[in-house]
Amino acid sequence: ATPTLLILPGDGIGPEVMAEVRKVIGWFGANGRPFTVEEELVGGCAYDAHGAAISDAAMEKAQAADAVLLAAVGGPKWDKVPYDVRPEAGLLRLRKDLELFANLRPAKCFDALADFSSLKRELVEGLDILIVRELTGGVYFGEPKTITDLGNGQKRAIDTQVYDSFEIERISAVAFEMARVRDKRVCSMEKRNVMKSGVLWNEVVQQTHDARFPDVELSHMLADAGGMQLVRAPKQFDVIVTDNLFGDMLSDVAAMLTGSLGMLPSASLGAPDPKTGRRKALYEPVHGSAPDIAGQGKANPIACILSFAMALRYSFDAGADADRLEAAVERVLADGLRTADLIGPGGGKAVTTSEMGDAIVAALG
Ligand code: NAI
Ligand code: MG
Repeated sequence: ATPTLLILPGDGIGPEVMAEVRKVIGWFGANGRPFTVEEELVGGCAYDAHGAAISDAAMEKAQAADAVLLAAVGGPKWDKVPYDVRPEAGLLRLRKDLELFANLRPAKCFDALADFSSLKRELVEGLDILIVRELTGGVYFGEPKTITDLGNGQKRAIDTQVYDSFEIERISAVAFEMARVRDKRVCSMEKRNVMKSGVLWNEVVQQTHDARFPDVELSHMLADAGGMQLVRAPKQFDVIVTDNLFGDMLSDVAAMLTGSLGMLPSASLGAPDPKTGRRKALYEPVHGSAPDIAGQGKANPIACILSFAMALRYSFDAGADADRLEAAVERVLADGLRTADLIGPGGGKAVTTSEMGDAIVAALG
């Protein structure tokens, strides 16, 4: 059957960048990889239409779809709407109801933009790493989580890092599966020298590897040393798997290895379907709705287009098509085409959102 893709353009520049992804999907449809595309509202536009940041009907479609692609939500228009129905609530409901426990943040350096990196060109040329962050457990959610008054003018804050072995096993399985369609190398990061959760993390990742993924090369690194290595010699890594807190920090560090916010895709994955083995998945650019440039044709559609490339690779077993799409992006950048956010080191030819999308489609062949 033709796979289904639910598209959620959202607010601000969301619909503008999603229109360019539509062109790309159209190209793949005309070239032997069709999708059944459905579209729904999410965020502020959904609130305006039916008083909730995502409707139950849209949630049902998200549950049924093979993958969901979201552009961005939010904007000043909805700053005063009630907390429970604010635009971000749509995103949170998607993540929660689809049980998306694995957050994937790639850091891939496009040659033409290597001078945008926080690091020297030679350190990032050809860089292509993937950080797999556990998203629903750890210290952000563990109980107790309190601030208490100690009565002597002092207060005490407590956050609790909790990980059950099943949570570590399922996130490491995601990392190993991703590595299998990449360079077959995983580096697990924790702090087993000072944290019990690090000891268990290390043990369960190793067991999962030995039992289910012996074909993938596994190494372990202390997370602080890992942060150092990420900025010293990032190309040594392929896939990095780590917990919620370390992953939050390490993925932001990795993002700066490659440059502009308008270039960064992401994915969040859930458990595999028992029948098909396919994981629930939400693909989205890292950036937000950019109200400051909305409606001006200035938005960079590449982060959203690369999010679709991730969907091809990780949800649709279409690694060659993902490669082709990434190569098209690479070619257009090498030709000097730049949306406003990419004008900087090296200059370039300024293009609109739509011109960038057209050029990428043309470069597909
Ligand atoms: P933002 O990511 O929307 O914008 C930050 C800066 O980067 C702005 O100057 C913007 O013009 C620029 N920028 C972002 N994406 C770009 C692109 N594709 N092309 C060119 N330039 C781009 O973050 P900000 O301004 O903090 O938030 C704006 C709104 O977006 C808020 O309502 C916020 O809540 C929402 N937001 C939504 C997210 C989501 O849907 N996942 C994530 C982050 C923020
Ligand atoms: Mg962060």
